[in-house]
Amino acid sequence: MNKQGEKSIRTECFTDFEGRFRARLAAVIPRFFTGGDEAKTTGTSARYSCRVKVEYQKDLMGLLEEGMLLASRNFKHAEGSEERYTLMEISRVWPEHFGLRGLGDHGYYPMQFEIIEQSEEDWQTDDKSTMMIQIDAVPINYDLKLGSDCGFEFSKGFSYPVVGSSVFLLNGDMINRMYNKRITDMNRIDVQRTTQDARLDPRLGTIKMFQADKTVIPIYIDFEKLVRYHFGVFAFTGGGKSNLTSNILRRILLHTQKDTKVVLFDLSCEYAFLLLDLIADPLFPAKIILEHRIDSVEQLYNSIVKPREYEYDERVKVALKQVMEQGKVGYYTKPKQKVPTYSQFIDELNAQRKDSIEKPHYINAIDEIHDATLAYMEEKGLTEAQEVSEPFIQFIDPIARDAIERFKVHEKSGLFAWGTTRTTILDIIKRKSEKERLETTGLTAEKIRRFIEQESTRLLCVSISDPFVIKELVISLTQELLAKRKRQFQVKPYILLAFDEAQEFIPATGDAGGIDKKCSRQVETILRQGRKYGIGVCVSTQRIANLNTNALQQLHTYFVGTLPRPYDRMLISDTFMIDKGILEKTLEFSPGEWLLSSYIATGMENVPIFIKADNAENEVEKYLKSITSS
Ligand SMILES: Nc1ncnc2c1ncn2[C@@H]1O[C@H](COP(=O)(O)OP(=O)(O)OP(=O)(O)O)[C@@H](O)[C@H]1O
Ligand SMILES: [Mg+2]
Repeated sequence: MNKQGEKSIRTECFTDFEGRFRARLAAVIPRFFTGGDEAKTTGTSARYSCRVKVEYQKDLMGLLEEGMLLASRNFKHAEGSEERYTLMEISRVWPEHFGLRGLGDHGYYPMQFEIIEQSEEDWQTDDKSTMMIQIDAVPINYDLKLGSDCGFEFSKGFSYPVVGSSVFLLNGDMINRMYNKRITDMNRIDVQRTTQDARLDPRLGTIKMFQADKTVIPIYIDFEKLVRYHFGVFAFTGGGKSNLTSNILRRILLHTQKDTKVVLFDLSCEYAFLLLDLIADPLFPAKIILEHRIDSVEQLYNSIVKPREYEYDERVKVALKQVMEQGKVGYYTKPKQKVPTYSQFIDELNAQRKDSIEKPHYINAIDEIHDATLAYMEEKGLTEAQEVSEPFIQFIDPIARDAIERFKVHEKSGLFAWGTTRTTILDIIKRKSEKERLETTGLTAEKIRRFIEQESTRLLCVSISDPFVIKELVISLTQELLAKRKRQFQVKPYILLAFDEAQEFIPATGDAGGIDKKCSRQVETILRQGRKYGIGVCVSTQRIANLNTNALQQLHTYFVGTLPRPYDRMLISDTFMIDKGILEKTLEFSPGEWLLSSYIATGMENVPIFIKADNAENEVEKYLKSITSS
């Protein structure tokens, strides 16, 4: 191969940090998935791992980082003058000193200290004979194909790199093209003009790579795929989950026009602040739903959670006053009169079977009422979760009475009593609608549902801190939402249901019971079926060990921050197939730093990348400045 050609390609795709990076592939170590311990703990789809040795240079340790991508020529057949490289991701980097390696524990102690002390200075030199940098890397299952005319292409598949060959480091431009090109081309975004201003730029933040170089590489994500294929945010408390979630929601809402609506279940009542710039914007249709009725700005101010620096900030009150004046604050009123749903109606009827086992004619009567109910529901396109209506009662009452008479159900039996008193439901329905008419300020689940389905409201922030109440609302809202969508074969507008503190909503169903279990099952159903009907889910939590694993497996995109517990990391590694070495890098993250991996919403399928998210508080601060200066 001609050296000249290699040079011109190199600068296009690779960087050697101005001649400082010279590396060779030293070994390719196959991994065997025998089902033994190793397979259990590595959680990766890679068939081998690579060891790369780098000539020592004193600045290099500051420049190399986990997450960077390496390329090494492979054995696959290339056409014409094309070259094929196997791509791999650095999972670990460490420096090695020849003298220290040979240092035994049994040597004369002053000698040991002598050697250790001397080595300190060595690191400041470029002495290649005593020091080296070692790298562990995992293949990402992509090949890079380089044409002679500097064209390039990524292609998926396993390949085997040539041991001993040179290893190159992908440069910032290339990283940008890999992750962003598809998305920026689609949305006509000019990467050169990237800024952290959420209104101007849909980026989520920047890629944490080549930071020593001061190169800024933004990271974009395909919002439609992100929403439809669900995403998760996992980090220890204080890792910035709520901040990131609000950052993502804000950008989805600002940059998807009217295609996406967001319903946010905000148990810790933080989002009224975190999304204040959007909620207070008179042009943006939003609604906050609180647990109790609120009469003054003071009360609203006190009922939402603010970051510590904003605890006594009067500007927040000014903004909240505007929110109230725009009529964007409502409160939830729990259903008081219980009108049975169709499923409850059928359950009550079926309960009569128990006492009628020995009386086949009773069973005949029950079957008749049962079939008539189902036929009615089918004809009208009703679902089990819906409440029975006045016309239904008027329809079913004569049928029930007639069946009871014909099949000679005894007057003293339970079935007789049940079958002849169904019109009492009419009273309940009447009283309920009367109550609702008087209730002008409170919002019932029914009214909230209308906001989502019909009106222009794009953000609905349900800030209710009572876990029982909010779960009940989740169940009744989502059941109906999914059922409606199924009936209408409708996918747009996409609806994103966001669950912060998701451990409350999707606990592992094993030890959960009652409403916890019901809620978990319900959200799991949405995760499984939602995609087909344009309903997406975002879950954010600090403890993934206690989560419903069936639900977790449905997430196609995930953001992982610091997870100090090894067990949590193992679960992530297992569920999402991320190499453990790469995951361990998250331990050194500060708030706002994330490992992002996606099967679908980034340019690269399941290739983890480290990012720094833009801080949502900056957006709120900018807004607060603007209202107080004008
Ligand atoms: N992208 C970011 N840039 C800078 N600072 C950030 C960023 N994200 C979060 N932080 C800081 O970290 C703090 C904690 O963030 P946040 O409340 O979002 O964490 P959390 O993971 O939701 O915590 P909890 O588990 O308590 O809900 C914030 O007050 C903020 O100052
Ligand atoms: Mg939080």
